[in-house]
Amino acid sequence: MSKLVEVKNLTKLYKNHNHEVKAIEAINLSIEKGDFLSIVGPSAAGKSTLLHCIGGILAPDKGEVLYKNKNIYKQREVHVANWRNKNVGFVFQFYYLIEELNVLENIALAGFRPKKKYSFQRAHKLLEYFELTERSNFYPSQLSGGQKQKVAVARALMNKPDLLLCDEPTGNLDQDSQEKIKILLKKINKEDETTIILVTHNLQLAENAKQMMFIEAGRLKEVR
Ligand SMILES: Nc1ncnc2c1ncn2[C@@H]1O[C@H](COP(=O)(O)OP(=O)(O)OP(=O)(O)O)[C@@H](O)[C@H]1O
Ligand SMILES: [Mg+2]
Repeated sequence: MSKLVEVKNLTKLYKNHNHEVKAIEAINLSIEKGDFLSIVGPSAAGKSTLLHCIGGILAPDKGEVLYKNKNIYKQREVHVANWRNKNVGFVFQFYYLIEELNVLENIALAGFRPKKKYSFQRAHKLLEYFELTERSNFYPSQLSGGQKQKVAVARALMNKPDLLLCDEPTGNLDQDSQEKIKILLKKINKEDETTIILVTHNLQLAENAKQMMFIEAGRLKEVR
């Protein structure tokens, strides 16, 4: 199996005025194509920070993130953005939907070099899966938290990414919708060989993955 993502000695500090928070420290990870890894930890453990570093959104202070043996932070910013658009789907903890676009547009816009018609077709299909067809023309401010979360997941899947990074993807969902996302993640991991890294404090969701690790106070611990 070939390595898809390697994280080496990753450390991220946040510096505010004279205060410093070590959010993650000396994290090492190795992920192969087709893996489905969940990382569980309490609030403030460093889960979002780690995922943002892996996804090319937040440059670490120390260490490196390799994607197919290439250090993503050694590239120019525009190349990192291109790499991300092409290969990575990101489900953000706080959604980050574009308020000026409706639900359908939010999803379709994520299409890589969109052929407009194809992007909208796929966005429609994703909305159908999440039973949100009737909300296609709604704006984010007109959605419930759970609905926004589903749109955020749909957007991340728009490009059929090789690597899907999920930050607390069911944090705002009821049991039924949670199950639906669980099934979907398992399905795309199995059928499309989408590699998934999921971070959450929800053990029940984490147990759905093939591999599980714990994170606490910025440090990673393997469990199985
Ligand atoms: N922009 C920032 N500036 C300063 N400190 C930050 C910043 N972002 C996060 N932190 C700190 O880094 C630590 C880890 O935060 P992070 O958001 O990665 O945790 P988390 O595990 O995702 O938590 P949660 O489960 O609540 O989402 C926290 O102590 C937090 O206060
Ligand atoms: Mg978080």
